[in-house]
Amino acid sequence: MTQDELKRATGIAAADYIRPHLDDDSIVGVGTGSTANCFIDALAEHKHLFDGAVASSEASAQRLRDHGIPVYDLNSVSNLDFYIDGADEINEHLEMIKGGGAALTREKIVAAVAREFICIADESKLLSRLGAFPLPVEVIPMARSYVARELVKLGGDPVYREGVVTDNGNYILDVHNLSIASAIELESKINQITGVVTNGLFALRPADVLLLGTQNGVQTIK
Ligand code: 5RP
Repeated sequence: MTQDELKRATGIAAADYIRPHLDDDSIVGVGTGSTANCFIDALAEHKHLFDGAVASSEASAQRLRDHGIPVYDLNSVSNLDFYIDGADEINEHLEMIKGGGAALTREKIVAAVAREFICIADESKLLSRLGAFPLPVEVIPMARSYVARELVKLGGDPVYREGVVTDNGNYILDVHNLSIASAIELESKINQITGVVTNGLFALRPADVLLLGTQNGVQTIK
């Protein structure tokens, strides 16, 4: 199977995973990216079973609406059973690097509200150590250079993602060559730099379940 076929298989598996738990009041948390898009397309097959969704980006919100799925503001939702999203990297502890699509802040917010975070990924994303993928950091525009200098002190090589403005009006620094011994520690440390909105380490709140697309089928890892 190609990588795209594996992504489609995980999207379908995620829709099947949550389907028995959906009812008329259910709101589903939906992530961002090409794997999340596969989930949205699979979820649309079951749109008569639930109320609507909250989305971690304008792009996903638009795709949901295009399928006729109502999209709610997170502020009007108090219970979210599931958040389903992809990852750029994931390790055996289900800690992730996310934000390749620049949606990391909203992804982290929706994930914080959800009871269960289901990560969907093809097998190329599962690694023993995080950090080959440059770590995205969302920054307030006026703090970009200051934050970059602080990230250099942490041993990284930040690169400004030119031409990209997040849904929140901020910039992204992609930090190369970080040595990530403890993802929890580094996530906390980077969060403390003034001007950082979020960083793409999802270790303080990792995924609860990984649906991993492999050549032998979709594996469920908890
Ligand atoms: C977007 C993300 C995505 O989940 C991540 O980039 C993976 O994307 P894809 O499924 O396209 O490989 O974090 O901000």
